[in-house]
Amino acid sequence: MSHVQDLSELAQEARAALQGLTAEEAVEAFRVRYLGRKGLVTQRLKELGALPEEKRREAGRLLNVLKQELEEAIRKRQGDFRQGRAERPVSMDLTLPGILPARGRLHPLTQTIRRLEGIFISLGFEVVSGPEIETEYYNFEALNIPLDHPSREAFDTFYLDEKYLLRSQTSTVQIRVMESRKPPLAIVAPGRVFRPDATDATHSFMFHQVEGLLVGERITFADLKGTLELFCRRLFGPRLKFRFRPSFFPFTEPSAEVDISCFSCRQKGCRVCSGTGWLEILGAGMVDPNVFEAVGYDPEGVQGFAFGVGVERLAMLLYGVEDIRLFFENDLRFLRQF
Ligand code: DAH
Repeated sequence: MSHVQDLSELAQEARAALQGLTAEEAVEAFRVRYLGRKGLVTQRLKELGALPEEKRREAGRLLNVLKQELEEAIRKRQGDFRQGRAERPVSMDLTLPGILPARGRLHPLTQTIRRLEGIFISLGFEVVSGPEIETEYYNFEALNIPLDHPSREAFDTFYLDEKYLLRSQTSTVQIRVMESRKPPLAIVAPGRVFRPDATDATHSFMFHQVEGLLVGERITFADLKGTLELFCRRLFGPRLKFRFRPSFFPFTEPSAEVDISCFSCRQKGCRVCSGTGWLEILGAGMVDPNVFEAVGYDPEGVQGFAFGVGVERLAMLLYGVEDIRLFFENDLRFLRQF
């Protein structure tokens, strides 16, 4: 066998061995076998000197090409293993548990709004919404709050420019609905409202309200009372007592603030009710005739009741949350509890 033929067999054998390298340790063994101090290629290189001149040049060239090729292949294989890219024998345990997809859930305020909606839907109310950017007309004037009326201060407001503002109450939706429909109607309107209040444990510059409005013929304060009592009982339990305290809202006459007996201490006095035994829940009243006039309804022909409830306040009572800011901080440790 000529030396050249011998060399090409060696190269073939090495290339074949290269294909079978499926483990990092095997690559090292391969390197030692061919390129190590006593490796097959190294050996041949050492023997070059003993060859006659004409053979030496050709054999030297072939050996050096092979050496470079193997070095290159080894480097590449080692790199592959380091990056975990090399093919490995497939081993898969099909009995291992799968990867559970993370499950989302609704924000506690959304859950609360859905609960309120559910109660009113079951009573025949329809859920509607209105814009957060409003005009003075919808936020104040049509609701019987004239420009110079001191009660405007109670609904302190973010103005966007001369014409537009961020609504400070969802009562705006009453006007929008009545403008576009004829009675009878019964709606609830959940949504965000905005007020330039300093933030603390019970105040936020943005919060949620649910507005309610029912208009029809021969609607009385008894209808308002019955509806709100049923609503509160569904939410806080059947054994509640109620207190309708006379109050004032520009858009209702008469107006009332509604308290429920503290569900937490049964009126013994506790932290939830600050020792009073009562919890203030919402504002309500019979729709003021001036509001009917503003939307073109006949104040002699129809009556209605309206109410407004703060969603954060209800959620805090229902879930025992003591700081309103927790709802808006997006801290998953808090949100995961709901
Ligand atoms: N809009 C009132 C507020 O922001 C809440 C309210 C009270 C709404 C009485 C009403 C109502 O519809 O009749 O405090």
